[in-house]
Formats: sequence, structure tokens, C-alpha cells
Amino acid sequence: MNSTDLLVLATCLTAVLILCVSMLLLKVVAVFAKESADPTPFSTEEEKRQRQKAFDEVAALKRMEPSIFTRLMGLKPMSEERNLIMEHEFDGITELNNPTPRWFMALFIGSMIFAVVYLFNYEVLGFGQTQEQEYVSELEQADLDKIAFLSNPVNAKAAVNESSVVLTKDAIVLKSGAALYANRCTPCHGEKAQGIVGPNLTDEFWLHGGTVHDVFKTIKYGVPEKGMISWEKSISAQQISDLTNYLLSLQGSHPAGAKAPQGEQQK
Ligand code: HEC
Repeated sequence: MNSTDLLVLATCLTAVLILCVSMLLLKVVAVFAKESADPTPFSTEEEKRQRQKAFDEVAALKRMEPSIFTRLMGLKPMSEERNLIMEHEFDGITELNNPTPRWFMALFIGSMIFAVVYLFNYEVLGFGQTQEQEYVSELEQADLDKIAFLSNPVNAKAAVNESSVVLTKDAIVLKSGAALYANRCTPCHGEKAQGIVGPNLTDEFWLHGGTVHDVFKTIKYGVPEKGMISWEKSISAQQISDLTNYLLSLQGSHPAGAKAPQGEQQK
């Protein structure tokens, strides 16, 4: 059972607890409502006796057994209240001896014991991991996972970034880059990358650098304030690498209608 399961279990238990408490409250409200509609204050001894008689008769008629709910909640039926009256009395007001139900006390004491055990376990004995330790160990695990992941060449290729991207003339890479370019980049850079809104990408002049790393970075993060979109969300790192290599393969292609050079010359 991991910590998430425990959390779910605890949440369920809490939900059940809340349900029980609300049912209890509902019951209490119902009693209040009944009493205010038809009050039964204790007055003279005679009246008390009469009422008691009436109660007893009703009880005898109904053969009143406390319901499962009443027993579970540790409640006493109204008919038994006379047994609960405590000895003191003030201005005709008496008190009922209605102890807290056992289930509630068990929960109450149980939660205190749990707290002590918890504290000892996490803070004194250090068996369990605190949130902070859990966080640190998860980070460590993530680092290990990352190393393991990248040690697989297929993954390493897919996870290529601006520092690990390499220049290649591989035909498959260039073909993939060309297709991507035709689909996404032509409206702004032109079919032959000669430049329209965006700059000419076939010359040696670059606004944001012309190395394989620079170009990868420009495509990945874009230059949003200048109208060049960031592509990292819509295409994969591998695709950005393919595009980069495709663009760099167009260097010196001198397409017709090429836009005037922009930026710094870079060989
Ligand atoms: C909405 C228009 C638009 C689209 C679509 C677009 N770009 Fe651009 N791109 C621009 C603009 C504008 C710039 C110039 C940014 C600047 O002035 O800094 C630019 C700049 C660039 C640069 C940097 C050029 C330099 O001189 O440093 C590269 C590389 C580039 N785009 C590649 C691409 C690729 C690859 C695609 C397709 C995946 C693409 N762009 C799609 C508008 C666009």
C-alpha cells in the first residue's frame, strides 16, 4: 500500500465519519423540533407520574426496542430519559446524564494515540519519510530515471535539445524536415525559405545565430514578440532537430526573390 492508497483510505474514513456525525446532528435537530412543537416540561410530581404512565403504556404498546442506529450512536430513547435525570435541579431545570458514546471516545482517544505514534515515527525515530525527505528522494529518483532513459539511444534522440542537437546530412532527416517545413513554415518564410514576413533562411545572415544550436533554439522557443512562434509545444524535439538540419541544408541555395539579408553574417 503506497501513500496515495493510504490517503484515499483516510479520506473515505473521514467521509464516513462526517456522514455519521451529520446523521447524529439530524437526529438532534429532529428532537429539538419535536420538543419545541410540543414541549414536555416537568412540572408537578403528579403530572410527572401521569406522563410516565402514559410513556410506559406507549412503550408497552410498541414494545419499543432501541433501533440499531440508536444503539450505535449510544443514544437513549426518550422513554428512558427519566432514568438519566441527574440529582441536581435548578428552577425546575434538570440535567440528563448522557455520556459521550463509546464509538466517539474510541475515535477521539484513537486519534491521540495515532498522533503520538505518527510523531515518533516521523520525527523521533525517523522510520518514515517526511514530506521534505520524500520530495528530495523523488528528485534523486527522477535524476536516475533520466540518466537511465537517456542511456537508450532511441530516447536520447527523441529528447534532443539545443545543446545536444547535431548537424547531419542524413537523407531521411532532411526529407522529414522538408515535409515539416512545407506544412508549417512556408506562410512566413516562403516555399524556398526565401523569406516573406519572416527572414530569408537560406543566406548567411542570422538575427539569432546560425549554428545548429542557435537555429534549434530559435525554432524551439521562437521570438514571440517579433512574430516567430515557439514550436516546442506543437512539434517534437526530434522534429525540431529535423527542421534545423533541413534549414541548414538550404544554406547558399539562393532562391528566386530572396529577401534582403537581415542580422549578422555567420559562416
Ligand atoms: C507566423 C509567421 C511565422 C511562422 C509560421 C514561422 N516563422 Fe520563423 N520567423 C518569423 C519571423 C517574423 C521571424 C523573425 C524574428 C525576429 O525578427 O527576431 C522568424 C525567424 C525565424 C528564424 C530565425 C532567423 C534568423 O535570422 O535568426 C528561424 C530559424 C525560423 N524563423 C524558423 C522557422 C521555422 C522552422 C518555422 C516552421 C516550423 C517557422 N520559422 C515558422 C515568422 C514565422
